[in-house]
Amino acid sequence: MRWDPARYAAFADDRARPFHDLIAQVAWPSGAGQEAPRRVVDLGCGPGALTATLAARWRRSTVVGIDSSAEMLASAAADPTLADVPNLSFALGAIEDWTPGPTDDVVVTNAALQWVPSHVSLLPTWLDAMPSGSWFAMQVPGNFGSPSHALMRSVAASGRWASALDGVLRSEPVLDPAGYLGILLDAGFAARAWETTYAQLLTGVDPVLDWVRGTGLRPALQALDAADPTGATTSAFEAEYAAALRSAYPAGVHGTVYPFRRVFAVGRKP
Ligand SMILES: C[S@@+](CC[C@H](N)C(=O)[O-])C[C@H]1O[C@@H](n2cnc3c(N)ncnc32)[C@H](O)[C@@H]1O
Repeated sequence: MRWDPARYAAFADDRARPFHDLIAQVAWPSGAGQEAPRRVVDLGCGPGALTATLAARWRRSTVVGIDSSAEMLASAAADPTLADVPNLSFALGAIEDWTPGPTDDVVVTNAALQWVPSHVSLLPTWLDAMPSGSWFAMQVPGNFGSPSHALMRSVAASGRWASALDGVLRSEPVLDPAGYLGILLDAGFAARAWETTYAQLLTGVDPVLDWVRGTGLRPALQALDAADPTGATTSAFEAEYAAALRSAYPAGVHGTVYPFRRVFAVGRKP
């Protein structure tokens, strides 16, 4: 899937907050052992600005962001604020192909594993391979059942675009907190898992549409553009979806509240 880093960055503050809430639970240094993690890996790092905060927190660690999107990594490479961070680098790669190295003391993955349905079966293997004392921290959106996503599926399944969108939108890709907690505990980690629903205040005419255009709607938009390069079908689909979103998330005096549930799990290997 092609990403549009500029569109993704449009809600940078709202998207960053869960990352900081996640990383706050990684308590390194945590007593015995090295002062800094040897290597910190950010799986599905996107445009890299959040990965850079890991490099700033652990200045003596090697921090590596891994992402399968050439567009996202090009954005990171072009970002002048990342150019001179000596302990930060990025690599093109698929999460499915990644395996932990013996010095990967902190592994972070924020808002990425929902794109990798096999992560549930990969997690035990990763956790088993991580070094003792290491931390694993993940956050995934848990909003598959929210009106924004239910409407996306129902509008996609009706209308003249239905055949072009058949099978394009994902089925539920993530577990509840208890599911991830069980995986971490089974791997011998001391762990906690939780969920938070962020009441995000968005502004603009169709702000929820703008939000999902940057992430969950992208596969549908690409499929429609491929089926009808004039863009007419994409526009018609977006107009119908936008109208449904406006009813589900009416604008108020302060803006549009878009509740967004996210699932977190953090653990430390003894
Ligand atoms: C919603 S963005 C999150 C980016 C960043 N972690 C953040 O919190 O802002 C999801 C990122 O996961 C990456 N991604 C999706 N599937 C991937 C895969 N199979 N392997 C590596 N990266 C992937 C995308 O390219 C995208 O940059």
